[in-house]
Amino acid sequence: MGNFDKIVNLCKSRGIIFPGSDIYDGLANTWDYGPVGVELKNNIKRAWWKTFVQKSENSFGIDADIFMNSKVWDASGHTASFSDPKMDCKSCKTRHRADNLIEADSKGSVNPDTMTNEQMEAYIKEHHVCCPKCGKCDWTPIRNFNLMFSTSRGVTDEGQNLIYLRPETAQGEFVNFLNVQRSMRAKVPFGIAQIGKAFRNEVTPGNFTFRTIEFEQMEHQWFCRADESMKYYNEFKQKAYDFLLSLGFNPEHLRFHDHDKLAHYAKAACDIQYLYPIGWEELNGIHHRGDWDLSRHQEFSGKSMLYLDPYTNEKYIPNVVEYSIGADRLTLAVLCEAYDEEKLSDGETRVVMHFHPSIAPYKVAVLPLQKNLSDKAREVYKILSNYFMVSYDEAGSIGKRYRRQDEIGTPMCVTIDFDTLNDNTVTIRDRDTMEQIRLTINELVDYIIKKVAY
Ligand code: GAP
Repeated sequence: MGNFDKIVNLCKSRGIIFPGSDIYDGLANTWDYGPVGVELKNNIKRAWWKTFVQKSENSFGIDADIFMNSKVWDASGHTASFSDPKMDCKSCKTRHRADNLIEADSKGSVNPDTMTNEQMEAYIKEHHVCCPKCGKCDWTPIRNFNLMFSTSRGVTDEGQNLIYLRPETAQGEFVNFLNVQRSMRAKVPFGIAQIGKAFRNEVTPGNFTFRTIEFEQMEHQWFCRADESMKYYNEFKQKAYDFLLSLGFNPEHLRFHDHDKLAHYAKAACDIQYLYPIGWEELNGIHHRGDWDLSRHQEFSGKSMLYLDPYTNEKYIPNVVEYSIGADRLTLAVLCEAYDEEKLSDGETRVVMHFHPSIAPYKVAVLPLQKNLSDKAREVYKILSNYFMVSYDEAGSIGKRYRRQDEIGTPMCVTIDFDTLNDNTVTIRDRDTMEQIRLTINELVDYIIKKVAY
C-alpha cells in the first residue's frame, strides 16, 4: 500500500487527479482529473481508439447517449438482475458486500461467485464472519441491491418517466447494430466501439479511482458467426493483452483470470488482472456473450436483428465477443506501473513516472537556463506547441525543474542556453537515462515525433 498512498499524494500535488468537490470537503469516491491527468487519460483513450478502431479495418466507432429508453435495460437484464449481494451490520449500520466478506475471510481460497445467496449466508454464519467496521456478527439477510442510478424525465409531475444513467456503454453498441451495419455496409464479422461514461451505485467503491460510481468505459463488441466465435474470443484475449504491453506494461504484472461463474448469457469470460499495489485486481474483461444481446433486443424492440449473409444467403443473429476496459482503472494501472523512486549517484532520490512516451501528459518541457533567455525559449515553445503538449517552466533551479518534469513523466526536456543564441542548438535531456544530446532547433520536431509515436 506504501506506493499507493504516495501515488495518490503525487496525483494531487502534480495536477493529475484531485478529490471531487474538494473545497466542500469532497464527495466520497468522486475524482476530478487535473491539467496533467486529463492529458494522460486522453492519450490513453486515443491509443485505445487507434488500436481498436483506427487500425481495425472492420471496426466502427460510435458515441451513443448516456440516457437510453428504459426498455433497453429490461432487455439487457439490468433492471432485473444487475445487483450486488449486500448485508447490513445491525450494530453499526454499515453496508457490506457478502461476496467481499467471504473473499476476505477465506483469503481468496473460496470463490463466492459460484455461491447462491443462501450458501453465502451459511458460510458467513458457519465461519463467524464479523463486521470489519465494528467487529460484531449481527447481519441482516442478504438483499440484492440494484446498481443502476435512476432519475426521472418529464416536465410535469404526472408525466415523469423513470430513466437510468447507463451502467455500461455496451448497450449503446448493441442497439446501434442495425444502424451501423446498414449505414457502413458492414459485413459480419465487424466491430462497434465506443468510449463513454458509465454510472454504478457501487456498494463498496474505493481504492482511489479503482472502483468509483462514475467512470469511463472503452468497449468493443465484435459481431461474428457462432462457429467462429471461440476463435475470435481467443484473438481478443491476445489483442487486449498486447494492447497493455504496447502501453509499456511489464508482463509480470499482468495475468489472465478465467471466470468460474458465468453470467447467464455468457459462454466464456475472462479478465486480465493487474498487480496493483492493493493486489491482483481486474483491469479489463473479455466476454463471449453468444447471441444473447441481439436476441433480447429483437424480443423487446420487435425489430429483427437477423443478418443476411451475402456470401451464403444464411440468415442468423450474430454472436458477440465483448472487450471492455475502464479508462480510469487503466489510467490508475498506468500510474502505478510508471511510478518509480530512483536512487541517484549523488545519494538523492528522484521520483519519476516512466510513462510510455506516447501517453505521457506532456511530451516535452522547454526550460530556459536563465530568465533572460526566455524570448528564445518562448520561440521554441511556440514551434513545438504546434505539434505537442509542451510544458514551459522558467521558475527555480534547472535541477528542480527537471525533477518537476520527472514527476509528471515528461519524456524530454529542452534546455535553452547561451549557445542557443549563437548557433540555434539546444540540449535535450532524456527522462529515463538523464542523458543529454545537442540538436538544432530545426531538428527538434522530427526528433520528438519519432520518440513519442504510438
Ligand atoms: N459491458 C461489460 C461490462 O461492463 P464489467 O466487467 O462490469 O463489464 C468492464 O466492466 C470494465 O469496466 C471493468 O473491467 C473495469 O475496468 C471497468 N469498471 C467496472 N466497474 C467499475 C467501477 N465501478 N469503477 C471503475 N471502473 C469500473
